[in-house]
This record gives sequence, structure tokens and C-alpha cells, in this order.
Amino acid sequence: MLLSLLILFLASGEIFAAPKEHNDKLMHPRLPPSSNRHLKVNPDEGKSSYWVENAQNTVLEKTGKPLNQNTAKNVILFLGDGMSIPTVSAARVYTGGEEVQLSFDKFPYTGLSKTYAVNRQVADSANTATAYLCGVKANYGTIGVGPEVSIGDCVGMTNATNHALSIAYYSQLAKKRTGLVTTARVTHASPAGVYAHTSLRDWESDTDILNDDEDPTVCADIATQLVSGETGKNLNVVMGGGRAKFIPKETEDEEGHKGDRSDGENLIRTWLAQTQNAQYVWNRDDLLALDDTVDNLLGLFGTDHLSYNLDRDPTNEPSLAEMTQAAIEVLSRGDNGFFLFVEGAKIDMAHHGGQAHKAMDETAEFAKAIQVAADLTDEADTLIVVTADHAHTMSYSGYADRGNDILEFGGEASDGKVYTTLNYANGPGYRQPDSDGSRHDISQDDYEDKDYVFPAVAPLGSETHGGDDVGIFARGPWAHLFSGVLEENVIPHLMSYASCVGEGYTACADAPLIK
Ligand SMILES: *[C@@H]1O[C@H](CO)[C@@H](O)[C@H](O)[C@H]1NC(C)=O
Ligand SMILES: [Zn+2]
Repeated sequence: MLLSLLILFLASGEIFAAPKEHNDKLMHPRLPPSSNRHLKVNPDEGKSSYWVENAQNTVLEKTGKPLNQNTAKNVILFLGDGMSIPTVSAARVYTGGEEVQLSFDKFPYTGLSKTYAVNRQVADSANTATAYLCGVKANYGTIGVGPEVSIGDCVGMTNATNHALSIAYYSQLAKKRTGLVTTARVTHASPAGVYAHTSLRDWESDTDILNDDEDPTVCADIATQLVSGETGKNLNVVMGGGRAKFIPKETEDEEGHKGDRSDGENLIRTWLAQTQNAQYVWNRDDLLALDDTVDNLLGLFGTDHLSYNLDRDPTNEPSLAEMTQAAIEVLSRGDNGFFLFVEGAKIDMAHHGGQAHKAMDETAEFAKAIQVAADLTDEADTLIVVTADHAHTMSYSGYADRGNDILEFGGEASDGKVYTTLNYANGPGYRQPDSDGSRHDISQDDYEDKDYVFPAVAPLGSETHGGDDVGIFARGPWAHLFSGVLEENVIPHLMSYASCVGEGYTACADAPLIK
């Protein structure tokens, strides 16, 4: 009855009819012709029955799903750096169409994460890493320290009372294996949240600290903390870029690039010397040929950050999905499960440059890595959480036809010129008006170039983060807890609950260990 009524309604088009005075031409201007990169739309979409059937299948799927209250043996946290909600929506179209489900769109539970810092409206990747890994909101620019520590306080960051401990630390205490994977330097802000305690995210090597006139023998740099810190030295898997932060200025890495350290330490050698059954790899071939008995893996595949996927030499540099697969394989060699952090770091970097094409591609790569993890693990015992640290200013607008290339035009503005579907509120994509004062004609740009810088309202060398909420997508034990509008720092508390680690409430005990 209800169904047939619904079909009647949809078929009559009554509820979507435009008001009489609606000027369709003004509201939905005709699009200029664009390239042939348009996507095919499924012809069944023109039938009401298609939509009703799809919706009913979703109802069945959702109502038939029992809550998973198992203890999470494994926890994987996927962090799309700067992966705002418009980024996710647009990446679907980039991947294949508005109707496409990215790997994590298929996860059964979602929530929203409020990302502000203790002292700023809009967050950075440091204070947010402290929140989603250590469970504490903190000051902008600080990592693994509570809000008691101010940015750049070298002595203050050494006070252990104010250290915020990550879920990796607590997972190690529970005898779980732990690891991290990123497309950035492994000492960059997000991965540093797994193991470091620093009042300034920039202090990745001792040289970085010396350059700020501080003493690296007082406040340890992030690379040193990775190799010698309590959590860092016990990580079983570390993969990403950033070799320079680990080797001396005088030393060349495998690709002939000089190191960055002033203290003469070769931290890669230190790590190898102190770690049992360990292997260091620096290129894709060595990663793919990894001995399947290796217990501990350090993979540094670049001197600096890894390449954008669109620029990557696939014979030399692994993809995020390949690193994720190797990490899960190594971490699975234990009885007590594991915690793994995986970051798609370059979504953020592309957005900062106004390079929406690359931001889309990096998001698609991130989704592929999540698919690999979903395929390699069992929903019954592995909690997978996907989220972002903060948003960006990219918007997704216009009334383009279905299947229109997301990297092209959303419509025609009142000045008779087109505007792109994706735009930034600020950043390097600001264009000076033409000599007659009119808006720059972007249809004359090489907007198909992968490095094309999308238009921005206000000029700024680096586009800023956004203050809007980001999504949380969860699958596996206790995934249903990742729902509602949550403060970002609640995320590791919920992961700890599900996997029975840490000092707070867990699924395995009636009361928290420490109140
Ligand atoms: C460490 O921090 C705590 C809490 O903020 C403070 O009470 C204590 O005095 C600090 N210790 C030192 C040596 O500064
Ligand atoms: Zn950023």
C-alpha cells in the first residue's frame, strides 16, 4: 500500500514540481559543450521501480544486520588527510559516477567528527592526530601532548605528565602488534601522532630544532622518537617516505639524495641494529619480494613525501594499497591481533595547492587501500574505521548534467562565463580580473591538466583547511558506536573500547581500569 502510493507520487512528479514563477533558465543555465569525459548513466534510473527496489534492498540489508558486539582483535584506522565530505562526494564521480559507492561508502555505520583545536576554530593535522589517536584535544601544531603544552615549548613537551598516549601505545601494552603506513614522511604530523610527543610538528629532525634555536638534546626530534621512543621503537611496521630525516647531512640515500640530520646519527642503522627479525626496504620491488617470515618492517620509499599517485613511478614506488597489504600481512604474524594506522596523506597536499584533480585521484587511491584491508580481514574480528582529520575549502556546486566530468564546469555564471564544479574559498587559484575588470575566462585554461589549479575566491599561497565536520565510516566489532556527532577525540576511546585496550571503559570489563 505504502509502496504503491510512493510509486504513484514519484510517477506523477507532483512533489518535485517547480513553483509557477520559477525561471528555469536563470536557475539552471545551459552548460557549455565540454569534452567527452562524460560518464554513462544507467538507463534504469529513469524508472521509479528502480529506485524503490534499491531502497527496499537497503531496508532489508539494514534491518537484517545484527549488532556486532565481538571484541575487536584487530583495529585499522584509515585517515584521509583533509578528506572533507565534498571531497568524498566528488571522488565518487571521479571514480565512476554519482551513484558509485567507494569502498568505505559500503561500511554500515557513519558519524560526524567535530575537528576544532583547543585554541583554534580550524584545526591542523597535528592537534587532530592527538585527538583521533591519543583521545585528547590539543593546541594547534602540537602532537601527542595535552592542551597544557603550548606550541613550540621545548621544555614543556618533555613533561611526561602532559603526554597523551596513543592507541598504538595501549595496543602494545596489550601485546598486540602495531604499525603505520603513510604517503607522507613517516615523521609528518599525522603518523607522528601514533608514537611522538612534541610541541611543534615541524621538529622532524634535530636540524629542524636547531633551525628554531632550540636544543634537540632537550626536546627530541620526531625521527629520534620513532626509533628510540617508548611507542616508536616497538612499532612492527613503519612505511612511507622521509628518509632524509633519518640520515646525516653528509650521507646519501639509495637514490643519491643527501640526509638532513646534524647529529651524525643514521637512524635506519640504529633501527636495524636494535630490532629483531627486521628488514629495511626502500623500493617497491624489495617490498613485493619481502620474505614472509619477517616480523618487523621499515619501508622508506622516498627521500621526502612519496609522490602523488598520478606522478608515481610504479616500478619504483609502491601504491598505498600495496603498502597496506604488506602491513596487514606482517602484522597478522601474531596471536593477539594488531593496530594499524594508514594515512592517505596527499589528499591534503593536493587541496593546499588547489589541485582538485590530484585530490580526487588520491582519494580514489585511499579508497582502494581500504578495499584491500576489507578483503584481507574478517568483519567478525576486525574493526575498520575511516575518517579524516579536518576538512578543506573545496566546494562542489552547479547544476551539471548527471555523469558530467567532475573536473569540468558546473554551469554558466551571470557574467556569461563558465565556472568549475569544484572551487576553493582561498588558495593559489585566485585569478586577477582581466584588464577590462571582468572575471578570468577559465574555459581558455588547460583545465584537463592533472596539475590544473582550480579557482579560489581569496589569494593565498597555500589553500587552508576547513572547519566543517568530517565523516567517520566504520565496519566490524562495535562499529555501531561510531555514529552521531562526535568530538574527534572520542574516536580512539571507542576503538579502545572495542579492542579492550587502554585505561578507560572497554567491552571486556565492567569498569574502567583507571577513572
Ligand atoms: C609537569 O606538568 C604538571 C601538570 O601540568 C605540573 O603540575 C608539573 O609541575 C610539571 N612538572 C615540571 C617539572 O614542570
Ligand atoms: Zn594540511
